[in-house]
Amino acid sequence: MKDHVRSNWQQAVLVCRKCSKKLDGGFGPDGGERLAKALRRHLSLKKGRKAAAGIVEVNCLGVCPKGAVTVVNGAQARDWLLVRPGADLDELAQALGLAPDALSQPA
Ligand code: FES
Repeated sequence: MKDHVRSNWQQAVLVCRKCSKKLDGGFGPDGGERLAKALRRHLSLKKGRKAAAGIVEVNCLGVCPKGAVTVVNGAQARDWLLVRPGADLDELAQALGLAPDALSQPA
């Protein structure tokens, strides 16, 4: 059995699933999508480890903000973001180092 697998991820972003559930959408063009899905779609990311970046829903991160979603950028793990519904996804992607030009650069 292999002891590791390669991925194309240049970045890993953790999005709190429970915050996302509590907001029941709030993101994307119609405001009806969960943050992780809206961000993946906004950046046209492929699925799983073939994607240029991983945006992964995880269990409660213990911050539990009211009316926002806790997001951790794996590369800047000391600074967590609390993202409010309707947030500009371009700005968020930029803040997370997920800007499309950054993702298209070779690893
Ligand atoms: S519910 Fe999201 S951090 Fe706890």
